[in-house]
Amino acid sequence: MGCCDLRQPFETVLLSFDERVAEMPIESSMIRAELEEVRELLQWLHLRELFSDDPDRAKRLSLSLDGIHCDFSKQRVSPEALRLLCAWAEESGVGDAIADMFAGKRINRSENRPALHVALRRSSGPFPDEAFDVMPDVVATRERMAAFAEELRGGEGDAPIRDVVNIGIGGSDLGPKMMTYAMRSIAHPTLRIHTVSNLDGAQLAPLLQTLDPRATLFIVVSKTFTTQETLLNAHTARAWLAANLGEAADLRNYFAAISSNVEKAVDFGVAPERIFPIWDWVGGRYSLWSAVGLALMTAIGPQAFDAMLRGAERIDEHFRTAPFPCNLPVLMALIGVWNTNFLGAETSAVLPYNESLRYFPPFLQQLEMESNGKSVGVDGKRLRELASPIVWGGLGNNGQHAFFQLLHQGGRLVPCDFIVAARSDYPLPNHHEALLANCFAQSAALAFGRTEDEARDDMEKSKLDPAKIEELLPHRTFAGNQPSTTLLLSAITPENLGALVALYEHKTFVQGVLWGVNPFDQWGVELGKSLASRILPAVREPERAQGLDASTRELLAFSRDYLL
Ligand code: F6P
Repeated sequence: MGCCDLRQPFETVLLSFDERVAEMPIESSMIRAELEEVRELLQWLHLRELFSDDPDRAKRLSLSLDGIHCDFSKQRVSPEALRLLCAWAEESGVGDAIADMFAGKRINRSENRPALHVALRRSSGPFPDEAFDVMPDVVATRERMAAFAEELRGGEGDAPIRDVVNIGIGGSDLGPKMMTYAMRSIAHPTLRIHTVSNLDGAQLAPLLQTLDPRATLFIVVSKTFTTQETLLNAHTARAWLAANLGEAADLRNYFAAISSNVEKAVDFGVAPERIFPIWDWVGGRYSLWSAVGLALMTAIGPQAFDAMLRGAERIDEHFRTAPFPCNLPVLMALIGVWNTNFLGAETSAVLPYNESLRYFPPFLQQLEMESNGKSVGVDGKRLRELASPIVWGGLGNNGQHAFFQLLHQGGRLVPCDFIVAARSDYPLPNHHEALLANCFAQSAALAFGRTEDEARDDMEKSKLDPAKIEELLPHRTFAGNQPSTTLLLSAITPENLGALVALYEHKTFVQGVLWGVNPFDQWGVELGKSLASRILPAVREPERAQGLDASTRELLAFSRDYLL
C-alpha cells in the first residue's frame, strides 16, 4: 500500500478521468442535467462491464492517504460522473463552506455558532484566528486531561482507581466507547473502562455488582448536564456510593464531569477542579476529541490520544487543501449523494471486519443520521430531495451469516462501506488472512455477482443432475452490481482511527452542504424528550394520563399491571 504526504495527491488519484474529458467545459447550470444523463447511462451498466471496459479502473478509482487506502472502483460511477459531481460540489458552494468552517464562521446557523471541532485536534494555534483564538483553552484542557489521566493510570494513593465508568449518552457515549474498544490492544493493562448510557437499570445494576466503590471513578459526560438518561444514571451511581461508603465519605473523590454547564455539575456534587469543559462550538457527535474523550485517554494514555488527534489533523489538512477530485471526504460525500439521490438507495451499510471496529456502525449512525437526517433546509424550506440515507450495519464477518443474504439476493440497492485493517491487532495464526479473504470476497461477490452460465458451470463441475441444475439455477444466480467502497487501513492504530473518524465527519459535513441542511443542529430529538417528561408522571398515576393520546393511555394501563 502506498503512503503519501496528505497534502499531495497519491499518484493514482482520480485525476485520469480529467485527462479523458479535460477539455470539455461545464456550463454550471447544466451540471445537474448532465448528471441525469450520465445516470441514465450508468443505470444500465453493470460493474462487470465497467471493469472490463477499463482494466485500470481499480487503480484509477483508488486513493491512498498515509495508512488508509480507499477503493471506490466498485461504486457505480464513471470518471465522467465523478468529474461532474466534483463540478457540482464546486457550484454548490462546498469549497466556500469548507473555508467558512475553518475560518470559524457561524455555520451552525440555527444555533448561531461556529463548528470548530477541528480545533480540538490542532497541534498549534491561533485558531480559527487571533481575534477569536480557542487554542489556549483547548491546549489547557488537553493538559489537564493528560495530568488527570496519568494520575489514574499511575494508580497512586491509598485507594487507587481500578474501574472508570463513563456515564453519558449519544455523543457523550458513542465516540469514547467506540474508540476505547477499538484501541483495547494498547489499553492500560489493569484499569477497566466501562460505559453506561441506557436508562434501563439492566445496564448499570449488573455493572455496579462487579465494582468496588472505593476503587471506582464515575465520569459524568454531558454537554448540557440536563440529559435525563445521564443524570438518572449519575444519581443512581451516587446513591450506590453513599450506601456503600457510608455518610462520612467525600463522594466528590469518586466523580469527574465533562460539561459546558459547570454550575449544574457542581450542584450535582462534582469538585470544580474535576470538571472539564466542552464548548458550545463542539457538537456532541463531533466531540470525542475533547474532554469527552477523557475515559478513552485514561485507557490508552495521553500519547496515544495525541496520536489519534494527529491522524485526524492530517485529514483536516487534506480536506481543507486537496482539490475535489482527490479529496477523500469530498469524494465519499459525493458518492453517497450519487447513491442516494441519483441511484435511489434508501440505506447505506457500514461493514467493518475488524472486531475492534464493532462499535463503529452505531457511532456513524449518530454522526450521519443526527447530522443530516432532516427534510428542512437551512433556509427553513422543505428539501426537494431526500437527505441522509438510513445508516445501518454491523461486523461484516458476522453479517455474512445473517443479513448479507439480502444484500446479495434481496433485489434492493444497498451501497456498502467495507472497512478492514490489513494488519491484525490481535494476531492469531491464520485468522487475519481468512478475515481479509472474506472481506474482499464479499465486496467482489456483491459487485460482480454470478451469471447463470457461471452458476451452471459450477454445478456441472460438481456433477449435479441436469434437472436439478435447472431447478437450482435461479437460486444460485447473483445479480451483483451492488456498489461498495472499501476502506483498507494499514493497521488499527490511533492515527488511522483518528483519520477514519475525521474522514466520516467531513464527509457528513459536505453532504449537509450538498443537501442544504445544517449538519450541526438536531431539533428532531426534542419532541420525544418533552413528551417523555409529560408521560412520566402518568406511568404510575392513571389520573395524570388524561390528555394523552388513546394509544399511549392503553400502553400505560397495560404497563401499570406489571410495574414493580
Ligand atoms: O438527544 C440528542 C443529544 O442532544 C445528542 O445530540 C447528544 O450527543 C446527546 O443528546 C447527549 O447530550 P449531552 O451531552 O448534553 O448529555
